[in-house]
Amino acid sequence: MNEEDGPVSERHAKALARRRLKQALAAIYDPPPAVLLPDRDALCDYVRATLGDAPLTYLEFGVKGGRSFKRIAERFTHADARFIGFDSFEGLPEDWLFQPQGRFSTGGKPPDLRDPRMRFVTGWFQNALPGFLNENDIGGAAPLLVHYDADLYGSTLFVLAELWRHADDYYFLFDEFFQEEAVALYDFSRAFPVEIEFLAQTTTTPFKQVFGRMRRVEFKPRRAIEEKPCDASS
Ligand SMILES: C[S@@+](CC[C@H](N)C(=O)[O-])C[C@H]1O[C@@H](n2cnc3c(N)ncnc32)[C@H](O)[C@@H]1O
Repeated sequence: MNEEDGPVSERHAKALARRRLKQALAAIYDPPPAVLLPDRDALCDYVRATLGDAPLTYLEFGVKGGRSFKRIAERFTHADARFIGFDSFEGLPEDWLFQPQGRFSTGGKPPDLRDPRMRFVTGWFQNALPGFLNENDIGGAAPLLVHYDADLYGSTLFVLAELWRHADDYYFLFDEFFQEEAVALYDFSRAFPVEIEFLAQTTTTPFKQVFGRMRRVEFKPRRAIEEKPCDASS
C-alpha cells in the first residue's frame, strides 16, 4: 500500500457513488413530475390538495424535533387522522455526507406535541418497525402517506422493503431525494415489484423533496424473452 491509497480510494468511492445516483435517477425518475413547487410548505399544501382532508394514516421515518411532522399534521385536521413518527431520537446511526454519526440527536426524546392523534415509536427502525407492523394494520381503507426523511441509504431501504408486504398502494414523500434516498428507492424497485409515479417536486437547494405514489404490482420479467424461429437445418 502506498501513501496515495487513502485519498485515491476516497475519490474513487465518491465517483462510484455519483455514478450510482445518476444510474438510479435515470432508471426511476422517468418521467419526472410536471409540478414544480418552491418549498416544503408548498409541497405539503399540494399533498393536502391531492389527498383532501382525509382520515389518513401518516408514517414519518426520521422525526428529530418534529418540524415536518407538525407541517403535515396541521394540514390534515380530520379527527380520525393518525400520525405516527419513528425515530431513534439518537441521531444518524452512521455518517452521512458531511454529517457525523449521532447528528440530529434529541437526546432520546420525542417532540413534546400534544395532539392525541399523534404517536411516536422510539427506537431504530430495524428493531421497532417489524413489531409495529405486526400489531397495526396500515393497509386499511384510509389513505396512507409515508414520509422518508432518514437521509441514509440503509435506513430508507429497510423501511421501503418492510412496508412492501403491508401496504399495496400509498403516497410517499422523500425529503433528500437526490442523494442516498433515490439510490435506495432504485435498489428497492429492482427487487420488489412496484409501480412508482412522481407527482411533484420542490426546487429548493441544496436538497429537493419529491411527492409521489407507489403501488405494489405482480412480478414480471422486465423484457419478454424473444422467441426465435427454429432453424430446421441445425
Ligand atoms: C434529517 S433528520 C429528520 C428531520 C425531521 N423530519 C425534521 O423535520 O426536522 C433524520 C432522522 O432520522 C433518524 N434516523 C436515521 N436512521 C434511523 C434508523 N435506522 N432508525 C431510527 N432513526 C433513524 C435520525 O435519528 C434523525 O433524527
